[in-house]
Amino acid sequence: MTNDQDRGRSTTRVLQAELPVNTTLHIWLKAMIPGVPGTVSLVSVKGKFGDVLANNTEEYEFRIYHVFGGGHFELHYDMEKTAVSVIYWFTPTDVLETGITVLHTNTGNAAPVLPDSYHFRPPFGWMNDPNGFGRFGGRPHLFYQHYSHGLQWNTMHWGHAVSSDYLRWRHMPIFLFPSETLGARPDKRGGAFSGSAIPLPNAPGIRVFFTEQEKDRDPEEQIQMTAVSPDLFSAGQAEVLLDRRPEGEGLTLDFRDPYVFRGPDGLWKMLLGSQSEAGGVILLYETEDRSAATGWTYIGKLLVETRHQTTAIECPCLLPLDGSATDPTTQWALLYGLMNSTDKKTGRKNLTMAEVGWFDGRTFVKEFEQELDFGTDNYAFQAFKDGDQSIGIGWLANWADTGPNIDFPTAMTLPRALVLSDGALLTPPIAATESLRHHVIDRTRLMRGETVNFAGGAVEIKFELREAGLPFRLDFDHPDVTLAVELDADGLIILHENHGAAGPRYIAAGARPRLFRIFLDYGSLEVFADDGRWAGTKRIAGFNPVRSARLSAMPDSVVNAAVWGLRP
Ligand code: FRU
Repeated sequence: MTNDQDRGRSTTRVLQAELPVNTTLHIWLKAMIPGVPGTVSLVSVKGKFGDVLANNTEEYEFRIYHVFGGGHFELHYDMEKTAVSVIYWFTPTDVLETGITVLHTNTGNAAPVLPDSYHFRPPFGWMNDPNGFGRFGGRPHLFYQHYSHGLQWNTMHWGHAVSSDYLRWRHMPIFLFPSETLGARPDKRGGAFSGSAIPLPNAPGIRVFFTEQEKDRDPEEQIQMTAVSPDLFSAGQAEVLLDRRPEGEGLTLDFRDPYVFRGPDGLWKMLLGSQSEAGGVILLYETEDRSAATGWTYIGKLLVETRHQTTAIECPCLLPLDGSATDPTTQWALLYGLMNSTDKKTGRKNLTMAEVGWFDGRTFVKEFEQELDFGTDNYAFQAFKDGDQSIGIGWLANWADTGPNIDFPTAMTLPRALVLSDGALLTPPIAATESLRHHVIDRTRLMRGETVNFAGGAVEIKFELREAGLPFRLDFDHPDVTLAVELDADGLIILHENHGAAGPRYIAAGARPRLFRIFLDYGSLEVFADDGRWAGTKRIAGFNPVRSARLSAMPDSVVNAAVWGLRP
């Protein structure tokens, strides 16, 4: 429970908390007056028992405070001298089961309150790429690029959440922090960039891999780091894994986003995104060290991408699709983001490619390729093999729409399965998304061409055409944008116009699907056609809900339609 109270002095803010025994508090504060430390005081029923101080006036400083006895507590600070960004608490003994409790955010970093919204969002601050996505200690873990103190990209941390079903997440303490020099100023010079996680051999816990970016560091701005977390929620001291790019390959300073996975030969492999004069590059490393902590050796370029004027490749990822990594007949998916790319035909930017082929541990032989998502708001997609299933998740946004100076609250996409079927890669939402269906809104009116009104913004629409490719248009009523899904002779299209300005053409050219599942949430639209053979994800700015939908088609084209209100 948090509430503010005026205690006579109007500039003192008081936060109330009921804390269990043995609680850890994470507090970010800064001084507002140079030379006068910012202070948060901890007060129990017996009186004040501690102060947390920070002198920096430029950026919030991170402080940890352990409270051993439980009970009712207050945290006081003087708003004229102290700025507080975030305070949360947790109990280390059961944080994986209970999560953190947020006591304080401010108007600059607060998350929206949207109880029926079902996409993953951080509890405060900015988020971009998913990182370290995997199942560890029996549970799905999602780490992500994060800045706690505002809604713009800035010095990168790793946020963290744990789930049991990939849909309902518990927020964990911040997992990785930038170095002290980077963390001291909010000047967007770098931090703990994207990466991945693997289980520790013969012990619970994980090893994470990430890029540390420090602008203007000589000779390398981007180096690869590793850290171990035995408890699955806090990271030990990070160490340098690769302190420079491979020589003689003509690479730019781009050298990032380590994705570590088990190769067909049983060795740990690492992909990194980079750029050479020819275009975007994926680099391959491997190690014989079973713990993956040392011995990383450069093998070569796994892929060179020259299309779409891409600069660097970002967030490459490689995983077996239809069998085990060691079976030579298994086909693998190689996924990667094309930074700064433009598809000239449609004007879409920063595409994500999916190649399917074979990987022998050293080379990748492509059989076919497709776009991962024709809506392109599914960036930095990261996937892994979870038992027999391949599961991935992406950042529900695109750098083309944002930048370090734009407030831009974001979400992750729905988690998606990766399935190989009839020479195509399908990425349907995972089966458990059906558990989000909370109440039926309609089973007859949409099919008859009537307007179906929604009470909230969390909705799934499912329908079926009598024959593949029959044309239709599904119009949505949204207060800010013109929004529709359309199937015509050109293909499957997401129409998205902001105040009359048509943006890129979001089209799956030539698609002639029959089955549709469309997910609406506050700030997003996701289209899955023919079980994810065509997936289109579009972010909608702001949090306004879609208010209604209307389906137009020739008589008898639609044989089945249902609409549900969703709830996590
Ligand atoms: C992709 C990306 C990564 C980088 C991270 C920084 O969205 O640019 O290449 O590691 O974001 O936040």
